[in-house]
Amino acid sequence: MMKPVICVVGARPNYMKMGPILRAFAQHMPEIPALLVHTGQHYDHAMNAKLFADLELPKPDVNLEVGSGTHAVQTAEIMKRFEPILDTHGASAVLVVGDVNSTIACALVAVKKGIPVVHVEAGLRSFDRAMPEEVNRVLTDQIADLLYTTERSAAGNLAREGIPAERIVFTGNVMIDSLRFNLAKAIPAAETMQAAGFPGDLLDGPAGFGVVTLHRPSNVDDPAVFAALIDTLLTASERLPLVFPIHPRTRGNLERFGLLTRLEGKRIYLLPPQGYLEMLGLMSRARVVMTDSGGIQEETTALGVPCLTLRENTERPITVDQGTNTLVGRDRDAILAGLQSSLHGDGKAGRIPEFWDGAAAQRIAGHLFDWLKERGEGV
Ligand code: UD1
Repeated sequence: MMKPVICVVGARPNYMKMGPILRAFAQHMPEIPALLVHTGQHYDHAMNAKLFADLELPKPDVNLEVGSGTHAVQTAEIMKRFEPILDTHGASAVLVVGDVNSTIACALVAVKKGIPVVHVEAGLRSFDRAMPEEVNRVLTDQIADLLYTTERSAAGNLAREGIPAERIVFTGNVMIDSLRFNLAKAIPAAETMQAAGFPGDLLDGPAGFGVVTLHRPSNVDDPAVFAALIDTLLTASERLPLVFPIHPRTRGNLERFGLLTRLEGKRIYLLPPQGYLEMLGLMSRARVVMTDSGGIQEETTALGVPCLTLRENTERPITVDQGTNTLVGRDRDAILAGLQSSLHGDGKAGRIPEFWDGAAAQRIAGHLFDWLKERGEGV
């Protein structure tokens, strides 16, 4: 019996990366079965099942149902529940994507059992260890046997950390595979607004609209910081109506800090977390996107839509160097100036980075198949 490649997802940003990988595996390495494990880090319908359906992801073979917790509890719980899966099914490799707690937890279990770890989206660095994702990235890359990268700068970061060059393969951006695969199915913004109980033509004004997403602890967990950001967004919304699909953590904090009332009657429209096709529909038509998400910095670059990143740093420098992204941090003047340029058509136009071409997963599947074959798997 051939041992499977165990593919791990845990949280929302993993799903758009895994969708194309599983499709490419089915096409290019059908000899080696893929087994999909969901850790259950995200579990709300809107954060989870809806996206699985949008991305045509198969139902997970296993769901570990870990749910929320502190970082220690969540990571430990994933590790405890993942180990027996490896014992039951065996694995020719464990493939993890991105930088969430599920990524490091499952990679760590695998490496200690002598199972090769494959990391997709390796080598990205914000150089900010206060971000939990940065710690997850550095540690996962240290224990990975094969590191697939989305941009060339990643190889330099990995070299500085002592990772041998022969483990690193530049294959491109699987998240953009998903974007290209699904763009034609994007749901129009008017339908999304209607589904959320707003008039369908609310965003049809001459100025167009902007999209906001915020969920990083550094932006939304501190009442003073979050209140100042909301204030800036309220000023921005006087110039451009803003649609704000809201992460559960962010909504919880808006309520807890008493900030919800400030938004009443204003042109910031709160939506529940959106599906993938709804987000594509909103972002692709937006005049500007303001975000602290990693994936959205890449998606806006691929869409050619100006992006203002409300962070001091980015682990995805190519979106700034070549794409449409501008780092504005939390500085009110920088945010409003960025908005102004976007509205005047002076936002960054950018170009599409190398290998953000819709075929990254195919390159990964081809390479991984040969690699496993060399190790005596699958033949
Ligand atoms: C996680 C990832 C982050 C990613 C984000 C995308 C880590 C360290 N962070 O952050 O990199 O950008 O997902 O969304 O892995 N919650 C729900 N329902 C859910 C999931 C979460 O209500 O389905 C709430 C819970 O209150 C939970 C909180 O959100 O405590 C945070 O969830 P968690 O998975 O710990 O981290 P995220 O902030 O979502």
